[in-house]
Amino acid sequence: MSDHYYSKEPTSKSEPKLIEIEVLGQVYRLYSDRGVFSKSSLDKGSKLLIETMPIRPTDRILDWGTGYGIIGLVAANLAKQGQVEMIDINERAVNLALQNINLNGINNAFAYSSEGFNAVKGSFDLIVSNPPFRAGKAIVHELVDKAPNYLVEGGGLCLVVQKKQGAESLTKKMAEVFNNVDILARSGGYRVLFSKKGTF
Ligand SMILES: C[S@@+](CC[C@H](N)C(=O)[O-])C[C@H]1O[C@@H](n2cnc3c(N)ncnc32)[C@H](O)[C@@H]1O
Repeated sequence: MSDHYYSKEPTSKSEPKLIEIEVLGQVYRLYSDRGVFSKSSLDKGSKLLIETMPIRPTDRILDWGTGYGIIGLVAANLAKQGQVEMIDINERAVNLALQNINLNGINNAFAYSSEGFNAVKGSFDLIVSNPPFRAGKAIVHELVDKAPNYLVEGGGLCLVVQKKQGAESLTKKMAEVFNNVDILARSGGYRVLFSKKGTF
């Protein structure tokens, strides 16, 4: 079976290493490994999402497809009185995210395995993701379809997308499901899209 960053159990030999990522003025030390997304450095799309995600101090946040966890860790620091859940289908990534929560002294986040929303319970003020376009558009569109079931009224879905990886179709999909979509940021060929669950 071929190995992808979105495999449930990557078959590549594990070779954990420590990396440093500086973002929003803070340095994070993270365990990374073969078989996880962007294993050596912060992905440009994830960086733009982190710099843009509209997080309030008390928010309850879901980091969907957390990888080794950088988006969730920053979210936890921005929502100091809130709570962050970090999920991924890739069990190697989830184990790294759990180690990285400890390593960075975060006490308001936890990580667990989930295929899509399968293991997720409860609802959130914000769902953030750099979604797995390589795994197929259907998985990303299913994330958009199901997100409203896991958001409080007024809660939001915030996704980063590379223009050439289907930004137009994702924008259209979010507009269809939520009846609204805003572009919060554009930079380097990436867009951060935001839809709000509302009663308007
Ligand atoms: C583009 S990567 C982003 C990783 C990380 N958030 C980052 O910014 O470095 C997308 C992540 O989604 C995960 N993923 C893919 N399909 C998934 C699914 N069906 N359910 C949950 N996570 C999934 C992948 O394993 C991968 O870690």
